[in-house]
Amino acid sequence: MKRKEDWYKHMAFYQIWVRSFYDGNSDGIGDLYGVYEKLEYVKSLGVDGIWFSPLYPSPNADYGYDISDYRDIHPDYGDLDQFKKVLEKAHSLGLKVIMDLVVNHTSDEHPWFKESRKGKDNPYSDYYIWRDRPNNWDSLFEGKAWEYDEERGQYYLHLFAKKQPDLNMDNPKVREEVKGIMRFWLDMGVDGFREDVINFISKKEGLPDGIPFLPVIGSMMNYKDGPHIHEYMREFREVCNEYDCFQIGEGPMTTVDSALEYVAGEDRTLDMMISFDHMMADCLYTEYIHRPFDLKKYKKALTRWQEKLAGRAWNVLYLENHDHPRIISRYGSPFFHRESGTCLAASYIFLQGTPFIYQGQEIGMTNIRLGSIENYIDVSTKNNFNRYHIKDDLKKRLARIHVSSRDSARTPVQWNSGKYAGFSKVKPWFFVNKNYKRINVAAQEKEPDSILNFYRKCLELRKNSKTLIYGDYREYYASSREIYMYERKLNDISYLIVCSFMPIPVKVRFPRNYEGREGELVLGNYREGRHKATIPEGGLSFKPYECRVYRVRKSLNP
Ligand code: NOJ
Repeated sequence: MKRKEDWYKHMAFYQIWVRSFYDGNSDGIGDLYGVYEKLEYVKSLGVDGIWFSPLYPSPNADYGYDISDYRDIHPDYGDLDQFKKVLEKAHSLGLKVIMDLVVNHTSDEHPWFKESRKGKDNPYSDYYIWRDRPNNWDSLFEGKAWEYDEERGQYYLHLFAKKQPDLNMDNPKVREEVKGIMRFWLDMGVDGFREDVINFISKKEGLPDGIPFLPVIGSMMNYKDGPHIHEYMREFREVCNEYDCFQIGEGPMTTVDSALEYVAGEDRTLDMMISFDHMMADCLYTEYIHRPFDLKKYKKALTRWQEKLAGRAWNVLYLENHDHPRIISRYGSPFFHRESGTCLAASYIFLQGTPFIYQGQEIGMTNIRLGSIENYIDVSTKNNFNRYHIKDDLKKRLARIHVSSRDSARTPVQWNSGKYAGFSKVKPWFFVNKNYKRINVAAQEKEPDSILNFYRKCLELRKNSKTLIYGDYREYYASSREIYMYERKLNDISYLIVCSFMPIPVKVRFPRNYEGREGELVLGNYREGRHKATIPEGGLSFKPYECRVYRVRKSLNP
């Protein structure tokens, strides 16, 4: 079936990780009552849709990504009626809603698994991947990828935590279940799905051993983009096509070429793929090995995706989500909080693709530093501490956790300077970052030049410009370690986006084809209003983390 207009291209999304968003019923946990109250705020950012991280019942071994019932709402967050109210209100405000679809694995407390472990002649026996002998695969979250189950007398596969057994997608009944789940939510009115680790769902036949001396990555070649992946994705796509819904996949370790096999062309099986390349400018494999931020790596990754997808597919643009530490603490500078937060925003929102903003990113929330590993909750943080950093002394191990933990993205949103940062009336389920008196929504609402208001300006500018949505991308000064400069161009309009990543003033030369051209400075992060401007010949001194967005018309160029 031919799909209708690609409505997601002009949109921007806001991601809600509900547990830490806003507590509407005063039990210390964020919930759908809180979301309902804050929908106007979300709308005020200038976004057009919401991606909800999992809202389903879950024992929370991996905070919602271990689902025990796909057709209900976690009682901590409300119930189906409350979800419907949120959905209806979101739609009335013009916000689309997409759900997280996590079908590589379930919780071990899902009824399917409880049945499956009972024995080989159970109707759910082949819903999971059982073996008498494990292969050598590593899990991403907890040691080896196989766990012995006493009840069944066999090992089951878990690519993530032990409490997240992998579904056997080769079983047609499992795929029918997935389609049923999709229909359930689509019939209720949701607009699409973000599909968790979707490139892992088809495992290589025979489950061969991985390369033994390469932890995790050595096993991945046996299940990333596996042999039947596109067949299965086509089946799911058919369901989506019935509803004109939107599908975005998460592709850990995906390369741009393998992503294109999902997202390019009319018969694509996904509309977009979440890539990780640009999130590895200060680390390897997102969490394990840390390095200082390397601007060239960041730019190279962005440019690679921009260029390879141009005219063929559409990018997901993001800098934060619930899996990554806060971006100012990584690629920016807490000493230039406002400046680097705004500069980072301009560095990605004007690229070609659909921008995503993660809760708290719009006010520049930063990483939390907890004094002991016991205070961290995330299963992968604990795994990294106990497995990958084990050789370091305790201080160093904790320091690594401070820079890499996913828990930094999961602290309660800082709404105001009141008790518990206005997140809840009672003690929240997790630590509030101590900087909430300084960094919070209420304070930034009042400050015209705040990060919050800068995000609003960026989204408004993008929304009203076909050039910024559809224009061609070109990077300038790719080898600079100080500046990220790129152009978006459509017909006779060009935008030049210039971002300094330096904490000191730096001289910037504009490209020859721009020098001396009259245009407009449409956005900047140093309190300069929108005004006519000639692009200076001979360059300009940029202040720390200064960014500028110029708009020029070809016809003005003599
Ligand atoms: C990716 C999700 O974003 C992450 O939070 C989760 O832990 C893993 N997939 C496993 O579901």
